[in-house]
Amino acid sequence: MDEEIFSAVDEFIGATLLGEDEALRAAVEAAEAAGLPSIQVSPPQGKLLQLLVRLVGAKRILEFGTLGGYSAILMARPLPADGRLITLEAKPEFAKVARQSIERAGVGDRVEIRVGPALEALPALEDAGPFDLVFIDADKVNTPNYFNWALDRTRAGGLIVADNVVRDGSLGDAADPDEATVAQRRLHEELRGDPRVSATTVQTVGVKGYDGFLIALVEAA
Ligand code: SAH
Ligand code: DHB
Ligand code: MG
Repeated sequence: MDEEIFSAVDEFIGATLLGEDEALRAAVEAAEAAGLPSIQVSPPQGKLLQLLVRLVGAKRILEFGTLGGYSAILMARPLPADGRLITLEAKPEFAKVARQSIERAGVGDRVEIRVGPALEALPALEDAGPFDLVFIDADKVNTPNYFNWALDRTRAGGLIVADNVVRDGSLGDAADPDEATVAQRRLHEELRGDPRVSATTVQTVGVKGYDGFLIALVEAA
């Protein structure tokens, strides 16, 4: 098993189930041209996010970590005309690229990018919720902080999804000193027996290697 076969399978899924997507291709090209790192969700993962948006009938979405707008475009597309996606991005130069790609994709009216460190953006978001879906995909050490903030501001029946929690399998290694890994392990420990959510983590392979998503359904109080 190696990265080559993971990528070949992602390509096959793309060619069969996902199809061509001009706006997404343009977003990836614009990000590459501007020198952004190529760390957006993979096409199959992005489609999963989009399906989750549809499954919960989301109208209000919050994203941590915009990058070039790839996941934001996918999640914004199924939103109704009065739906809103707010996405938080630390780097102004990334946000600028994302804004252009989001406009080009035709979802600019539903997407708002807030520029700055996400933790600093949170106080101004008190009135923006409650959210139907929150996607956490920014600085990994803060994933537990973002999750805990989101938990109080996501409606019952809503979802909180966190990317990059498995980290090449280091999630299973109690001795791994990497602080991003320690944070993902702590989040899992904190959720042990927490009646406010029902959660699982799904390990993934693909063009981005070996990682995984935590998916938490918010329970009624
Ligand atoms: N969700 C995107 C990928 C996000 S990559 C997609 O799938 O298309 C992670 C992003 O988080 C990067 O753009 C990075 O600049 C941003 N980021 C890192 N630290 C941050 C912070 N403290 N606040 C907000 N954004 C941050
Ligand atoms: C990185 C960030 C991501 O969100 C991701 O999916 C992969 C890598 C990174 O910061 O390296
Ligand atoms: Mg990610």
